[in-house]
Amino acid sequence: MDNSRKKYYLTTPIYYANSRPHVGSAYTTIVCDVIARYKRMCGFDVAYLTGTDEHGVNIERAAEKLGISPADLVNRNQQIFRDLWRLLGISYTDFVRTTEPRHAVAVQNLVRRTQRVSPDAIFKRKYEGRYCVYDNLYVSDTPEPADCQICGRPAELISEENYFFRLSAYQEKLLQLYKDQPDFVQPDFRLNEVKSFVESGLKDLSISRKTIKWGIPWPGDPEHVFYVWYDALTSYMSGIGFVDGETNSKKDSERFKKFWPADVHMIGKEIIRFHAVYWPAFLMAAFPDKKLSEYMPGRIQAHGWLLFEQEKMSKSKGNVAYAEPIVKALGNDALRYYLLREVVFGQDGNFSKDALITRYNADLANGLGNLASRVLAMVQQSLDGVVPVLDSVPDPALMGFGDEVSTSPVLVRAKYEKYDFAGALSDIWNLVARVDLFLAERRPWVQPNNESEKKSRGVILYNALQALYLITPMAHPVIPDATQKIWEQLGQPGTLADVRIDQLQWGGLKPGTRIGKPEGVFPRADKKEILERIETMENEIRNPGSTQPIAPSADSAPTAPIIPAVTGAAAAPATPAKISIEDFAKVELRAGVVKSAERIQGADKLLKLLVDIGDEVRQVLAGIALSYAPEDLVGRKVVIVTNLAPRKMRGLESNGMLLAASVGPDGKPVLCTFAEDVPAGAKVK
Ligand code: MSP
Repeated sequence: MDNSRKKYYLTTPIYYANSRPHVGSAYTTIVCDVIARYKRMCGFDVAYLTGTDEHGVNIERAAEKLGISPADLVNRNQQIFRDLWRLLGISYTDFVRTTEPRHAVAVQNLVRRTQRVSPDAIFKRKYEGRYCVYDNLYVSDTPEPADCQICGRPAELISEENYFFRLSAYQEKLLQLYKDQPDFVQPDFRLNEVKSFVESGLKDLSISRKTIKWGIPWPGDPEHVFYVWYDALTSYMSGIGFVDGETNSKKDSERFKKFWPADVHMIGKEIIRFHAVYWPAFLMAAFPDKKLSEYMPGRIQAHGWLLFEQEKMSKSKGNVAYAEPIVKALGNDALRYYLLREVVFGQDGNFSKDALITRYNADLANGLGNLASRVLAMVQQSLDGVVPVLDSVPDPALMGFGDEVSTSPVLVRAKYEKYDFAGALSDIWNLVARVDLFLAERRPWVQPNNESEKKSRGVILYNALQALYLITPMAHPVIPDATQKIWEQLGQPGTLADVRIDQLQWGGLKPGTRIGKPEGVFPRADKKEILERIETMENEIRNPGSTQPIAPSADSAPTAPIIPAVTGAAAAPATPAKISIEDFAKVELRAGVVKSAERIQGADKLLKLLVDIGDEVRQVLAGIALSYAPEDLVGRKVVIVTNLAPRKMRGLESNGMLLAASVGPDGKPVLCTFAEDVPAGAKVK
């Protein structure tokens, strides 16, 4: 670990793993990635934590609906998050899952520590009130019906004994914190909201649940599991090594010591109360003996929502756009650039694919991409691919650029520092436009008539190259892929991530440098065609299997029938090889009872069945929809292969295979069954 550099620790919220991420969740992660990359380019040693929030009733129920275990559901979904972050070039350094044992130990230890050092902070009492299972919010402390303040859905009644956190005792301390750290909540208007909430009086908060199982057990009282927000917030500590005690590895505790407390928790505005009120109070109770600067996060930074037709983009409203299709159609930089340029950070912003493609063409393809390829091609053709060596370094102001060139790195940095991403990008693209204009005025493409005109062309291109040399690193935090390519085409070694954005200077591109091969970085996009491609891919995500032909991917499945070997859909060899009884014994067959059956949207042949196999209920996808109506199958006895490796089809997991005879020329499946009564789970051999 490099301890010589200043540290910077930032976090995204950890995302609920009950469904896949959409552009809204990608927004927070991209914003944090831009900050992380920017800070690294300022010389900071950055820890960037993201992760998945995997406990709670919502997850428990989502899994139940799918007929799989909560563990299977979160395993699957956390991978989708990781895959998307890779696709988006997210440079996170740490990923935390709340189902990891290291996290559970940290949560239990934080509460143990609190009970030890602040004995009054936690107590047990009966709770009766309304709870939103989607936002995990205690909506009201009375049993009367109430709607969730975040999502608007009706909250559920809870009546049980819980562990409580004495939040009411922290009112004054919190108000003092907001005074001592005036930037603690940003933007300022959010701080005012938080202050009024705290000033209006704080109620004690239930931090355990008794009637749910899918959570971290309370230490010494395992009938209770932790309230998901106590659990989730602690991931900001466990994710960088907090265990608190004897079980810390040396590496973990050094990492925690170096990076904690966080410099910024980046969040969406709807979860500000959890971060700006509950979290600091939990920390105050756990570390009453420490100085604020030793344990309190530097800042809670709330951003606005991405809206789709004026409403918050969210899966429950069905108005989501997904990031993967956009990245596959236009590249990673396109989405990143659009989100940071178009949304004024801190405020809500509208999301539109149409506007995204317009921005892409105007600013990336026709803007930076076109400028870079024109300048580099001219240098290649007229200057033998070498940055000209001039008698003296020309002053950009004298060359007609004006001050904007030399001062822009300072101005742009100031905007990044303030999280004014749209402003920083606007300054950078003003510079792109300025260089375009400069070239249009100076026309370096005109063949020189004499030595002096030749020299002058060298000077013009030198200036354009120097401008590109400044623009590229400045834009790098937002559009990392294309800028790295342009950097290499400028003949620069290594990665842009290692370039110090705070040391950029006009003239930094050394005369005599041989440039690389010029290649376009942003091909122009045909709006109609790109929109169609994006929509086709989105439909495939919404209704796996709905589009033809289906490109096989981790998430979609081939259209092949589901029980190939038995229905005969796969041709059997002419003379099947003999197998031994041991070979046959490897196949585990059991009697099962169909509990439910339903069609799968967009897949004509498939049915999704839940089959009771005695000690568990399995989800099985079977290619029998053309032969059986789902309602006729419920209660039916079947034979199921139970030890086949799970397989994903149309985005759903199939955990077993039904045996069926294959009848007639079409191989119509006829399910194997029993003439006599057999219990579910009976072995078939
Ligand atoms: N699991 C909690 C957070 C626990 S942090 C200790 C949670 N998860 S979430 O998946 O519902 O939302 C996480 C974050 O996703 C939001 O705070 C926000 O940053 C981001 N967004 C989700 N939908 C969004 C939009 N439509 N627009 C912008 N950001 C959005 O809350």
